[in-house]
Amino acid sequence: SDVEAFIHELPKVELHVHLEGSMQPATLLELARKHGVADVPGSLEEVREWYVFRDFAHFIEVYLASVHTLVDEEDFALLASDVAARLAAQNVRYAEVHVSLYAHLMRGVSARTVFNGIEAARTEAERRHGVRLRWVPDFPGDYGVHTGEQALDAVLAEGPDSVVGFGVGGVEVPLGPMAELFDRARAAGLHSLPHAGENGGPERVREALDLLGAERIGHGIDSMRDPELVARLREEQIPLDVSPTSNLRTGAVAQVWDHPLPLMVEAGLAVTLNSDDPPMFGTDLTNEYRTAAQLGLGAPGLAALARNGVAASFLEDSAKRVLI
Ligand code: ADE
Ligand code: ZN
Repeated sequence: SDVEAFIHELPKVELHVHLEGSMQPATLLELARKHGVADVPGSLEEVREWYVFRDFAHFIEVYLASVHTLVDEEDFALLASDVAARLAAQNVRYAEVHVSLYAHLMRGVSARTVFNGIEAARTEAERRHGVRLRWVPDFPGDYGVHTGEQALDAVLAEGPDSVVGFGVGGVEVPLGPMAELFDRARAAGLHSLPHAGENGGPERVREALDLLGAERIGHGIDSMRDPELVARLREEQIPLDVSPTSNLRTGAVAQVWDHPLPLMVEAGLAVTLNSDDPPMFGTDLTNEYRTAAQLGLGAPGLAALARNGVAASFLEDSAKRVLI
């Protein structure tokens, strides 16, 4: 249809997508067999069924299985190459990709292994597809701030220049204890990119801004429950990484029609559209634009979201001008 072609042709950026959450069922099966990982079903059909989540806990279970199949550099390169090729096929020109660095360190997989693998894929993807990738290492907040310290230490020791930010995800917890950690990340030139207000309430978003110096908010949909916070986000034009299908599939919203995206746009917020964990949520960035269209955004609205993404990215200004 016209909408389909319009969405495809929009030059897009993806600012919130997780490497490990981007593993296709076939790749999961291949790597699980290669390394004899036990916590994965044995057939493609069963893996596909397993990817239909009952709740957030089930999602985390599958996400960790993906993490456990990544062992050597070639595994990381294989996954990152697949992610890049799929982005390029959607006319996505640039992506900031979260990497669950701590989840690998805790299993004894070194930061060197992770970065060597994903960097090989990044440089090859840029050459082959013209898509540019940048990395955002993160840690699960609910595992404690010490896990963030280990992740940041590894980034500062081993991280390539293509690391642009530092993040926190997992189950939402109060962010106060992470203030010094994010001070240290920012002092090293990394952008502060926490998840906040996905399902943890508006207070997490305030903490992300006030205590972590957040430059964008991962999800942030709970902000809509707090009018003062909405006014602040509008005034300061803090970008929000919004992912409607993710929110539906993790149960953050009950029905697609309940998603606050249209209200956020109407409120003048700097909304960007993102896929989060595409195969695990049965989506991709194109489908998020399709969903935004279903929620009532027309072509000008969709184009505005794409421009918001470019503006909120950490591309250099000359590269932004080409895309806007
Ligand atoms: N890690 C990967 N996807 C996530 C999400 N939607 N929320 C929190 N942490 C995540
Ligand atoms: Zn996320």
